[in-house]
Amino acid sequence: MKGTILRCLKELVEEKFGVDKWRAVAAKVEGMPRVILPISDVPDAKVIEAVQATCDVLGITLQQAADAFGDYWVNVYSQKYYSSFYKNTDNARDFILSMDKVHEAMTSNLENAHPPKFSYAWKDDKTLIFDYTSNRGLIDFAVGLLKGVGIHYNTNLKITKLSDKQIEIIFP
Ligand code: HEM
Repeated sequence: MKGTILRCLKELVEEKFGVDKWRAVAAKVEGMPRVILPISDVPDAKVIEAVQATCDVLGITLQQAADAFGDYWVNVYSQKYYSSFYKNTDNARDFILSMDKVHEAMTSNLENAHPPKFSYAWKDDKTLIFDYTSNRGLIDFAVGLLKGVGIHYNTNLKITKLSDKQIEIIFP
């Protein structure tokens, strides 16, 4: 996975919980790079280990870590580094519907990127079935990120994980 994901996790832990906490997380992950460049390649297993270590060090569940990551990624990290993707959308619905294309565009010229694939089906005019395909099995992070989008656009989204592949999003 691209280093940007791990870098965001590091920034989040350091900023919200303290530099010492990240040191404790890093100490649990063998071969954790000291400097994490956004376009570097980090083995998926190391990212998963770092997430697990974060849960252990902070005493939080995986979904709590995923929610904290999603909020930080959408509302802090990507606002600094990827703000262009927010320029053309002023609402949560359009932003979420643009995510498949954004992941494709972001990674199409990056070697070794394997972005998740999203597809969309409307159950009724307010209920979107968001389909997540990736062999990484990180749907809890997709849930946390979607919650972050709701916070960003100040929109009360009802988000429910239906399975390891599907999330239901009800718009107001
Ligand atoms: C401007 C906003 C965003 C940008 C620029 C962005 C970009 C990226 C990048 C570069 C990766 C790493 C891909 C790789 O290394 O193969 C990634 C992973 C991921 N993104 Fe996003 N992302 C954004 C928002 C979102 C949102 C709102 C969701 C909600 C569904 C999401 C879901 C995920 C997931 C679940 C992964 C983990 C990889 C996987 O499951 O295979 N992202 N994203």
